[in-house]
Amino acid sequence: MKTILEIKNISKIYDKTVVALSNVSFKIEYGITAITGPNGAGKTTLFNIISGTVKASSGEIRFLGKRINGYQPHKRCMAGIGRTFQIPRLFDENSLLENVAIGVMTGAKKIKENMNIDSLKKQAGEILNFIGIKENKYEIKAKKLTLAEQKMLQLATAVATKPKLMLIDELSSGMTFQDALRLSDVIKRLYDYGISFLMVEHNMELINKLAEKIIVLHEGQIVNVSEKGDNETGK
Ligand SMILES: Nc1ncnc2c1ncn2[C@@H]1O[C@H](COP(=O)(O)OP(=O)(O)O)[C@@H](O)[C@H]1O
Ligand SMILES: [Mg+2]
Repeated sequence: MKTILEIKNISKIYDKTVVALSNVSFKIEYGITAITGPNGAGKTTLFNIISGTVKASSGEIRFLGKRINGYQPHKRCMAGIGRTFQIPRLFDENSLLENVAIGVMTGAKKIKENMNIDSLKKQAGEILNFIGIKENKYEIKAKKLTLAEQKMLQLATAVATKPKLMLIDELSSGMTFQDALRLSDVIKRLYDYGISFLMVEHNMELINKLAEKIIVLHEGQIVNVSEKGDNETGK
């Protein structure tokens, strides 16, 4: 299987004392990979390092074979890395359609497509529909949504940038069982559509349903890697 992302000996030390990640190395192939582990294990730090909002203390990140350590976050997004945040980051005062249209604009720039406002909104509507957000909500302000809906909107916005790899950080936390099921269905359909996922997740049901590979982080180190169909554990 073709490698999409390679993490080589990544370490992160905050404030010269807090070792958040220590020599983490792994490869992920096209597909769905889950990262799990207790709070403080370094999962979000790892996502921030991959998406470029935090600089690693040492190590290398290769995306589709290219070293991307020096890339700014927007350049990583342009290269095909999308992400959602543990705490949703949205344009609160803007409508759902406008939030997603901003993502569509980024994706359009990537393929140098000309866009007018109608076509941006049309595409934004199609993505919201795909994600399962009802049309009567398209024009309301993002801040009016529930936490679960904000998380789905964030996913829609990230999908709009046309990523090859999507990083999702605890997207199901705070969701009801029904919402998590819906999320799982959306992830599956996005994967069928061609998007690979690296998901930080605590919900084992969701992990077992979706992930082909599970990486367990603990105190900044990988303590286990397993693949679907494995009876044994180990790297
Ligand atoms: N910006 C920061 N400054 C200092 N320490 C941080 C910062 N972000 C995270 N940490 C610390 O790094 C460790 C890993 O945190 P984090 O990556 O958020 O873990 P997880 O997402 O697995 O809960 C924790 O000890 C946390 O307190
Ligand atoms: Mg976290």
